[in-house]
Amino acid sequence: MEGHAVIIRSSNQLPQYTFLKRFPVPKNFGLPATSRIEGGRTWPAPSGARHIKVFDVYRYNPDSGRNPSLDRFEVDLDDCGPMVLDALIWIKDKIDPTLAFRRSCREGICGSCAMNIDGTNWLACTRFISETDDLCPIYPLPGLQIIKDLVPDLTHLYAQHEAVQPWLSAKSPEPEAERIQSIEERQQLDGLYECILCFCCSSGCPSYWWNGDRFLGPAALLQAWRWLADSRDEAAAERLDRLDDPFRLYRCHTILNCTRTCPKGLNPGKAIAEIKKMIVERQAEKDQNVGG
Ligand code: SF4
Ligand code: SF4
Ligand code: FES
Repeated sequence: MEGHAVIIRSSNQLPQYTFLKRFPVPKNFGLPATSRIEGGRTWPAPSGARHIKVFDVYRYNPDSGRNPSLDRFEVDLDDCGPMVLDALIWIKDKIDPTLAFRRSCREGICGSCAMNIDGTNWLACTRFISETDDLCPIYPLPGLQIIKDLVPDLTHLYAQHEAVQPWLSAKSPEPEAERIQSIEERQQLDGLYECILCFCCSSGCPSYWWNGDRFLGPAALLQAWRWLADSRDEAAAERLDRLDDPFRLYRCHTILNCTRTCPKGLNPGKAIAEIKKMIVERQAEKDQNVGG
């Protein structure tokens, strides 16, 4: 491969899980920038447990007035399901009911259990415990404000999602039945409509860590491309006008952390490149028209 350009078409082409593990410190509400993660409590496995797995879980309680800590939980694998989410539910049920995390579907559809597991952003319900290190650290999604323990505040991310107007915009009169697409037009949406808005990608994007206030981030931009790529949508010009901005779109530097970490195997980095390409093509067309 040396010396050849590699075009990444799917995150399946990239090594996941074990590649480039990172443990960035999450941002917490109300804590000074100098605050540190402290050692926490150790919760030993129940007596008689034979197969034990150790998890270091990030804890933060805004009401305690204390710095965040890492609590060590020894989980009895013979009494627990196979996924990391099962371990967290086991801890909450059997050891510490105050542990806070989000989950709903437990099958990789709702996106709510996204967190940083063993150094990579992933869904707790689709990550096998057996695929993690013997000592498995669990943090909330990095770079976001933390409400409590493993629960990040997603308000800003949802506002950015809304900003790309993720709905069909058509000016032509409504047809009597549905708006028809050819099979080929429908296929343009493959790899886009499957996004579950888990925000693993935006939370894993270094550019988003520094400029998340103004850069829309890979999750919202993948949605922007999903509607630009839809043959039924008639608002491409307005969509591109809104995106053509040094921060909203162009803070993406094609680092591709987003594509590497997407637990649904999508490629937000490619979607962003497609938007940039569409803007360049539109400009070239305008220049040609002016030039005569
Ligand atoms: S490709 Fe762009 S959006 Fe994806 S991680 Fe890199 S800078 Fe962020
Ligand atoms: S593109 Fe992937 S990582 Fe990003 S929000 Fe959608 S499903 Fe999650
Ligand atoms: S609980 Fe829904 S994606 Fe994990």
